Amino acid sequence: MEQDSNRMTKDEGQLQQLKMSAGRAVVDDMVKCGMKLGLGTGSTAIHAVRRTGELLAQGQLCDISVFATSFQTEIECEKLDIPFYTLNSRELSSGLDLTIDGADEVDPQSRLIKGGGGAMLIEKLAAYASVLYAIIVDESKIVENLGTGFPVPVEVVPEARVQAAKALDKMGAVVYLREALRKAGPVITEHGNVILDARFGSPVDPAFMETELNRIPGVVENGFFTRNPPVVYIACSKGTVEIRKKP
Ligand code: A5P
Repeated sequence: MEQDSNRMTKDEGQLQQLKMSAGRAVVDDMVKCGMKLGLGTGSTAIHAVRRTGELLAQGQLCDISVFATSFQTEIECEKLDIPFYTLNSRELSSGLDLTIDGADEVDPQSRLIKGGGGAMLIEKLAAYASVLYAIIVDESKIVENLGTGFPVPVEVVPEARVQAAKALDKMGAVVYLREALRKAGPVITEHGNVILDARFGSPVDPAFMETELNRIPGVVENGFFTRNPPVVYIACSKGTVEIRKKP
């Protein structure tokens, strides 16, 4: 099964090129033989997955055990013959050496919003089980404050949809139930839940909110990532990749 990529505009093509450069750079710099490696989800992280597959196939990388953070990533690993395991497996239960992922927004302290692709529950498991964490973004995702631009995704059990939306509303957010494309009704996550996208009216404290949102009954996880500050690879429109060190 292949995705329809025929309709890509010139700008989208350029953006893909930039994301690819950053995705390849982070793998070349950070992935070493023998690593336990978390691989993220989305249109940026997929370039890191592909580069990992390429280096394995060329014999330049060896003995890599991968944790894939979504069906998208698992399927790409299958295509590329990258061996992947669950986090509960003997191979990975001691934790990950490095996770590489994309993000929707990055603030000046390298705190993140993730979950535009709906995979933040498992992406967070990988991020917090990893010694090293690296994020790849294009420069449009670098922002001053989190929470007021890209809405923070909140995964809730279906039974909690209305009550959780009310709680988020009380906390100052405008809330949307994420709708599926090419399927009527809401997005159902890989864990059978729905996603509430919450945009706050004014800047919030992401570390406080990461804890606070998970206290709402029925919330499974949210898209603030503040507890394992990453190295950030930034694909710039001038064609360079800038590296922001872990704070
Ligand atoms: C997946 O749920 C996300 O966390 C992605 O990593 C994030 O949305 C960035 O995706 P893109 O690289 O596709 O913009």
